[in-house]
Amino acid sequence: MGKDVIIACDFDSAEKTYAFLDRFTGRKPFVKIGMELFYAEGPQIVREIKRRGHRIFLDLKLHDIPNTVKKAMAVLSNLDVDICNLHAAGTRRMMEAALEGLTRPDGTRPLLIAVTQLTSTDQESMEKDLLIRAPMDQVVMHYAKTARDAGLDGVVCSPLEAGKVHEACGRAFLTVTPGVRFADGDAGDQKRVMTPAQAREIGSDYIVVGRPITAAADPVAAYERCVAEFIG
Ligand code: C5P
Repeated sequence: MGKDVIIACDFDSAEKTYAFLDRFTGRKPFVKIGMELFYAEGPQIVREIKRRGHRIFLDLKLHDIPNTVKKAMAVLSNLDVDICNLHAAGTRRMMEAALEGLTRPDGTRPLLIAVTQLTSTDQESMEKDLLIRAPMDQVVMHYAKTARDAGLDGVVCSPLEAGKVHEACGRAFLTVTPGVRFADGDAGDQKRVMTPAQAREIGSDYIVVGRPITAAADPVAAYERCVAEFIG
């Protein structure tokens, strides 16, 4: 599994998504389908984007009792996605159950990665709302190691954390990093950002890029620029 740029297709309808993807006549980008699009259009959107030849990261962040997550993962595995995810906060047992559910009878399965602490959670809300008192860094690394020990393939994390995750969990443990912006671009609501070139330097395996591509005047050119900067 090499390095790649994943486009976050944060659209609210199939129509808008296909209109966007139709612009890519050459290379078929790896795409991320999140809750908004999946809940709007259902599993058919996954089947159709797959049929068009794209690889898919289905970003549904499962978190429930182990048995429920296991069964849900079996359904996602049948949809033939390439990467799916869950919350490490669901515990090691939930992650192990997820892997069982995801594994097809022939032994193959999509990659499974974990969300550690959401980047929208800060130290204060973690302490107040979740009663977790350890420093954020330590919490993120602990969740990453638990995910690795459960057999998962990697984590979603800030590009600023990717280096540390590799140090703690090994180079083969994947880091999938959002929060990427061009040096001359608008950061929008992302606070801690990196350019594609910086994300490459720090060792991100996949970067997830939304608005710098989807809202660009020329999305195909923006995608190609991102690939050039990240992969070279
Ligand atoms: O448009 P933008 O490049 O900010 O999109 C980034 C994508 O990555 C969005 O789909 C966003 O929900 C997702 N994401 C994120 N930060 C996280 C986890 C996911 O920006 N910590």
